[in-house]
Amino acid sequence: MKQVDAVAPLRKAVVSLPGKVALVPTMGNLHEGHLTLVRRARELADHVVVSIFVNPLQFDREQDLQAYPRTEAEDLGLLQSEGVDIAFTPSTGAIYPDSMEVHTRVEVPGISDIFCGASRPGHFVGVSTIVCKLFNMVQPQTAVFGKKDFQQLLVIRRMVEDLAIPVEIIGVDTVREEDGLAMSSRNNYLDPEQRGVAPALYRTLKQTSEALQKGDRNYLQLEERAAERIAAAGLRPDYFGIRRAVDLGVPRQDDTRLVILGAAFLGIARLIDNLEVDLR
Ligand code: PAJ
Repeated sequence: MKQVDAVAPLRKAVVSLPGKVALVPTMGNLHEGHLTLVRRARELADHVVVSIFVNPLQFDREQDLQAYPRTEAEDLGLLQSEGVDIAFTPSTGAIYPDSMEVHTRVEVPGISDIFCGASRPGHFVGVSTIVCKLFNMVQPQTAVFGKKDFQQLLVIRRMVEDLAIPVEIIGVDTVREEDGLAMSSRNNYLDPEQRGVAPALYRTLKQTSEALQKGDRNYLQLEERAAERIAAAGLRPDYFGIRRAVDLGVPRQDDTRLVILGAAFLGIARLIDNLEVDLR
């Protein structure tokens, strides 16, 4: 595995790879969720590039950016054993040579402003900007993202479509702990007691999904009940919504492909999760 930390050597290394290239963008602190994306990327392409970059432009709070876990040595070991070809680990200066404030931004309107975008203003502009840059730097044929960040995946799909970026976007199912908690670097922030409470988010998503499967279409009431359940379990609900899976629009009674999205605070952690529901 080659490790490169600037754009010129990255381009040189990618050009030397014959065949199809898949990119897996990450912020590091890799866990089984990330590694599942890497394995999928290996199935889809001849070569895999993984980027590790904690992107300051997508953090709305300096404190969150500073506290974000950085475990580069372990991450590189994991990527090496997964057979990754190139690890791209740029410094902030290699991505934003001048100040971030004057950097060109990519904005996907509408879908970026709801749910996580409403809770974290500017977050998705940071995400779409860095992902667009990484696509231009690596020029992969395919890129793999997790459905754990369902809204992020839709923002990226929309960006690629609107800007005619020639990269195929693949979404991979959420990888969970045994008790259902979605794997996340932010789970490290939970103390043992909070870790015991955290699976309530997924449990509530499942209960809501079961109610929908049984024919309950009172979306507002289901959302309210779910938020109450999350609060009763000891989390502080941020949002809970039942939406159309294709574009996060408010569903009509006859929509069949839905997604339930939830976010909640637990101590200093903010947990997000979602569950797709197919009512066909
Ligand atoms: P990060 O949180 O490191 O996640 C990198 C990728 O791993 C994302 O596509 C995310 O959806 C996926 N992922 C995380 N946890 C997962 C899980 N439990 N199961 C399946 N996939 C999971 O998301 C980002 O970084 C950044 O916003 C990024 C896209 C890299 C842009 O900076």
